[in-house]
Amino acid sequence: MTEPAPGRVDMVKLVSLCQRRGFIFPSSEIYGGLSSCWDYGPLGVELKQNIKQAWWRAVVRERDDMVGLDASILMHPRTWEASGHLKGFADPLVECKSCHLRWRSDEVKGDGCPSCGGELTEPHLFNLMFKTFIGPIEEQASVVYLRPETAQGMFVNFENVVNTSRKRLPFGMAQIGKAFRNEITTGNFIFRCREFEQMEIEFFVRPETDKHWFDYWIEERTNWYVKLGIKKENLRLRQHTKEELAHYAKECYDIDYLFPMGWAELEGIANRGDFDLVQHSSFSGKSLSYYDEETKQHITPYIIEPSAGVDRTFLALLCDAYDEGVVEGETRVVLHLHPDLAPIKVAVLPLSRRENLVSLAKEVCTDLRRNWMVNYDDAQSIGRRYRRQDEIGTPFCVTIDFQSLEDNQVTVRERDSLNQIRVPISELKKTLQAKLEGEDLFVLPPGGKIWKEGEVSK
Ligand code: GAP
Repeated sequence: MTEPAPGRVDMVKLVSLCQRRGFIFPSSEIYGGLSSCWDYGPLGVELKQNIKQAWWRAVVRERDDMVGLDASILMHPRTWEASGHLKGFADPLVECKSCHLRWRSDEVKGDGCPSCGGELTEPHLFNLMFKTFIGPIEEQASVVYLRPETAQGMFVNFENVVNTSRKRLPFGMAQIGKAFRNEITTGNFIFRCREFEQMEIEFFVRPETDKHWFDYWIEERTNWYVKLGIKKENLRLRQHTKEELAHYAKECYDIDYLFPMGWAELEGIANRGDFDLVQHSSFSGKSLSYYDEETKQHITPYIIEPSAGVDRTFLALLCDAYDEGVVEGETRVVLHLHPDLAPIKVAVLPLSRRENLVSLAKEVCTDLRRNWMVNYDDAQSIGRRYRRQDEIGTPFCVTIDFQSLEDNQVTVRERDSLNQIRVPISELKKTLQAKLEGEDLFVLPPGGKIWKEGEVSK
């Protein structure tokens, strides 16, 4: 991590918004919380699901060369011997309090971090993996680990997937799931947790094409963040130095994001070479090679691995979306979340609690709920209700007023432009659909009007 970034959203404000509005709570808060574990509340769970869906759509559903997987968290303990996690993390470690690189204490010469010179923690005989026991007896023979990455589930299923999916090289697997790391240093809200979620791709390629696919995935994955609304200037690529490369990696780039505490890794893209398939073949005794129909030879593919964190993506999206401004003399906090990601797509707001208005509003609400996550809110002034929706990133508010009872029309107000239009209820879904799919303009019915919040419609 680099120096704190001036001008970025204040993390304290973001944490407060997340707790106040039900995005994220400290885990087991009534007992004082549990360090670096977090619970996603009613809005957080929606945003998180939308992130995962957007990723799955982009890397699995819209592609012909990718398939999905959902492997178990607990795996045969030999997995972690083969992967290098058991050995690699069992040494006495010190960690840099500043850049979070870990070093075997016998490798460190002098007092400071060999990379950035920062202060180091005391040495710990430390394995990052959480240990538990399978079955009723707590003995060495029954030790299993909570996976520290989802990747291994894909490597050990290589043969199963090749045989059942009939995919030919190059092809990949994608997996979203929980991973656990007993991190030495934690903090910065959900940036570094002990329980978190990963979205990982293992893309299997002919060895001689690794460079092409490595570059391809770096570009593809960077574009994904930009498409979801993250500003280009808040993203950068950083190549790993030889010293920081993981034991399995031939080459690695991080997609860094400019978080409030500075530039830090959002996603890592590694060329893992044939390390994993060779290791698992040797430890399991099962050949994990691929029969190449073209050359009539068995080859061990190389693996390109774009590995992203759901929680870090969540945090980056919130940082990028957060904005404060003044509307009609009042501070307006708004999350400019991409409509695909917004936890609530539409809020339905009857102007008063009069029975006939409420009944029409509920009817509209029930209909919209067939398509989207909808919020119904009839408490306090309309201005207050708009602000509440802005603060959680709802792209559209639909207001039902007394006129609606007569002309069957409603007002739609757009979060980002503050434009308001009036549309027949029969056209409402079509209008919202077009807008949620990225149309720049509202579909105005003949004679429709458009005006800004705060102005009076004529
Ligand atoms: N399979 C490769 C792998 O796990 P990594 O760089 O250790 O690589 C990949 O992790 C991604 O997982 C990171 O870029 C980050 O987004 C996320 N991640 C890793 N450790 C995390 C933690 N303690 N808390 C939250 N996210 C984490």
